[in-house]
Amino acid sequence: MGIGYINGKFTNLDELVLPIDERGHQFGDGVYEVIRVYNGTPFMLDEHLDRLINSSKAIKLPITQTVEDFKNLILEAVDKSQLMDCNVYMQITRGIVTRNHLFPTVPVSITMTVRPAKLISQTTREKGETAIFHEDERWANCYIKSLNLLPNILAKQTAFEAGCYEAILVRDGYVTEASSSNVFIIKDGKVFTTPLSKQILPGITRMAVKNATNLLNIDFIDKNFTPEELLEADEVFVTSTTSEVLPIVKVDGKLIGTGKPGEVTNRIYQQFLKLI
Ligand SMILES: Cc1ncc(COP(=O)(O)O)c(C=O)c1O
Repeated sequence: MGIGYINGKFTNLDELVLPIDERGHQFGDGVYEVIRVYNGTPFMLDEHLDRLINSSKAIKLPITQTVEDFKNLILEAVDKSQLMDCNVYMQITRGIVTRNHLFPTVPVSITMTVRPAKLISQTTREKGETAIFHEDERWANCYIKSLNLLPNILAKQTAFEAGCYEAILVRDGYVTEASSSNVFIIKDGKVFTTPLSKQILPGITRMAVKNATNLLNIDFIDKNFTPEELLEADEVFVTSTTSEVLPIVKVDGKLIGTGKPGEVTNRIYQQFLKLI
């Protein structure tokens, strides 16, 4: 179930369509977005497309498509997929051309998949998830949603092999974000998260959580925190398009608060669901 798209053509997901000289494949020379569709409507589509354009500009991709073009393409793909609750993955690369480090003068390559959303089980949400701390070994421009995810993948795999869900990344003694999500701590009823900078991805779900806390009159504070401060927090949660708002109850084997998902996290998640 689902649908694929490559440069003007819709395909089946199992069709072999990727040319060997595609720069995304050879250099990771591109950017991407993951957009959640709830009941047929993409959530925060404008914000995702805004970030896609910013990422494209940051790596100097010569895109000629407008935001409107991308929007229409995504809506067409969702419509064609006939899926109501799904994830759209869109990737733009510097095109298809014989391998050479220098920028080519060919059009960018746009590929997309639409697949059923994988839901996090109610049991997992009620129990909460676990994480490890991991050195943030990524480059200096993590605000770009670049295809180069090797350090993220290695960190996530290390977490998995330790029996955990996420790797919380630490750079220069402070938590930046996690391998595929943003990180939040709650102390005395206030929400703290790493300030936006070149060191983290400006998460769209982070933005939604900020809106949710505003509506709930909960303080949302952009502030760096250390792994020790995280361990002493009352509650911890991570956010992403696919995991939404997910409680973390144990990090490096140490319980957070009571070791159960917290009340503030739950209120934020309920408000997030209302925003959807
Ligand atoms: C490194 C990283 N940080 C944060 C996020 C969360 O971003 P969003 O809420 O836009 O999905 C992601 C999502 O994949 C990510 O890969």
